Amino acid sequence: MIEHLKKQLVIENALTGAEYRLQPISDIQSTPEVCCQIAAICNEALVYRWCFQSLCKGDPYPPEMAVDWIASASEGWRLGTHFVYIITDAYGEVAAACDIKSAHLDRAEMGYWSSASHRGIMTNAARAVTHLADTAGFQVLYADIHPGNHRSLACIQRCGFSKVEREATIVGHLTFDRHRPQRED
Ligand SMILES: CC(C)(COP(=O)(O)OP(=O)(O)OC[C@H]1O[C@@H](n2cnc3c(N)ncnc32)[C@H](O)[C@@H]1OP(=O)(O)O)[C@@H](O)C(=O)NCCC(=O)NCCS
Repeated sequence: MIEHLKKQLVIENALTGAEYRLQPISDIQSTPEVCCQIAAICNEALVYRWCFQSLCKGDPYPPEMAVDWIASASEGWRLGTHFVYIITDAYGEVAAACDIKSAHLDRAEMGYWSSASHRGIMTNAARAVTHLADTAGFQVLYADIHPGNHRSLACIQRCGFSKVEREATIVGHLTFDRHRPQRED
């Protein structure tokens, strides 16, 4: 399974046409520059609000947290337990991230964040990850999204996820599933 996921892909920003690289996070060097780039994005208003505010208890996301995140995400690739991709621009700077949060082929959660400076990359990156997941044999990918997170609600639907009725992992979140296309069988 992991050999289908452990790929580097070139993807395009849908708005600018610029090329980016999507790669397993274990393929990048955990340098101070990279950790500062990740921390800067995680402190951007939307990313902080929807992904890190409660985790960081309202304090800024520190670069040390990025160091730990890269280490645990790289371990996820080594152990085959979870799969974080990082998206870098033409200069090698971090623009976005997308992950499959478990190796449960029957049903796994997908997540993502993106810098507002790279608007136009997330849908194509997340679509690329869903296609890798298809080839790896994931049957259902899901995402649970706060009803106020309008950009994520739009993004997930551009990625082919459908709104479904099921219990949310977080009470009050809207629930989206994407089934592996039959043609991949
Ligand atoms: C959710 C998030 C990743 C969405 O980022 P985004 O920049 O809006 O997403 P995209 O790059 O896919 O889309 C940006 C624009 O490009 C357009 N676009 C993207 N891909 C496209 C495509 N393949 N074809 C045509 N247009 C496209 C979109 O329509 C959108 O246009 P708009 O800004 O005029 O609405 C970002 O807001 C974010 O990181 N939020 C905080 C973290 C978060 O909420 N994570 C998810 C938790 S559930």
